[in-house]
Amino acid sequence: MARFILGIESSCDDTGAAVVSSDRRIASNVVVDQAALHAAFGGVVPEIAARAHAEKLDVAVDAALRKADLALGDMDAIAVTAGPGLIGGVLSGVMMARGLSAGAGLPVIAVNHLAGHALTPRLTDGLTFPYLMLLVSGGHCQLLIVKGPNSFSRLGGTIDDAPGEAFDKSARLLGLSQPGGPSIEAAARNGDASRFKLPRPLLDRDGCDMSFSGLKTALRRERDILIEAQGGLHRSDQCDLAAGFQQAVTDVLVEKTRRAATLYLAEQPLRPTIAVAGGVAANTSIRAGLETLSQEFDMAFTAPPLRLCTDNAAMIAWAGHELVEAGLTNANALVARPRWPLDTSKAALLGSGKKGAKA
Ligand code: KG4
Ligand code: ZN
Repeated sequence: MARFILGIESSCDDTGAAVVSSDRRIASNVVVDQAALHAAFGGVVPEIAARAHAEKLDVAVDAALRKADLALGDMDAIAVTAGPGLIGGVLSGVMMARGLSAGAGLPVIAVNHLAGHALTPRLTDGLTFPYLMLLVSGGHCQLLIVKGPNSFSRLGGTIDDAPGEAFDKSARLLGLSQPGGPSIEAAARNGDASRFKLPRPLLDRDGCDMSFSGLKTALRRERDILIEAQGGLHRSDQCDLAAGFQQAVTDVLVEKTRRAATLYLAEQPLRPTIAVAGGVAANTSIRAGLETLSQEFDMAFTAPPLRLCTDNAAMIAWAGHELVEAGLTNANALVARPRWPLDTSKAALLGSGKKGAKA
């Protein structure tokens, strides 16, 4: 018989609660976003986020159970994001899980948020281990070999901004709306990517590590030259800069994934699969670049639907099932952690942007 896990997610600016069954059915997936609360500040304010999570978690849990037409007593366990992320929000979620556990006598499983993202293609597409994963969002950027629910090998990641963060900051520089990814993608559709020579950071260096903050600085420089010369930006300037920026990010992600695919296939020639997750995976140019790359390597390409790419609690509940299935429920202590690398054998990456720790 299918078992049910209640998932709880509150590591950044989305309050999530979801019920997922052990046979991969998402019975409910509630996300309460906080965008309106942070809009005036141009980024996520940790204290505001933590307070909003504390206020909305019980509402989200209640809605998730109701939509699933189940009660807390029908759950077999609670899975909660215990890190990495903004510590106030993570603490709110862990406390909520502890309270529910004490009240209903349910075990609590501590889940790594990044593992939730990385395991999503197993929930959506039933992928088998191992596979190569590019995780790209507003707060994360990693190339991973996913080997098991608690077994990840990091091939590379960003040493400064995450790509989504770079999209958001660049949109602000160009006077485009937030979140920056969709507005840059829309402007880029009418732009000429070749007009401005923007850098492809770290492509001259070996390995799979990435950097996006210099790209944003280069964009600012080109923008300032235009403003100095003509007193402002024309719509065509916005579109050309957006197109140049998007092309540069695409080139960097595709080239670093190409290197990762080569390393991956040397280790796992019989499992040729690339999966992508995170909000930036919604970008058509990046998706197309990765799809072409996977065809070049004769690898299967999997991209979960957007609502499961962005932050949500269904991925946390699913990661809980994975840990139960593998007998690893005690592998992670239930403590709230701002940093929690998936691959502890690798040195920590630099950088901790507006949405929390990168590694
Ligand atoms: O995964 P996500 O919802 O939240 C976390 O960061 O954890 O990702 C949000 C990020 C934002 O930075 C947003 O600008 C970016 O994903 N994004 C996009 C697109 N849609 C969302 N970036 C590029 N192109 C898009 N179409
Ligand atoms: Zn995330």
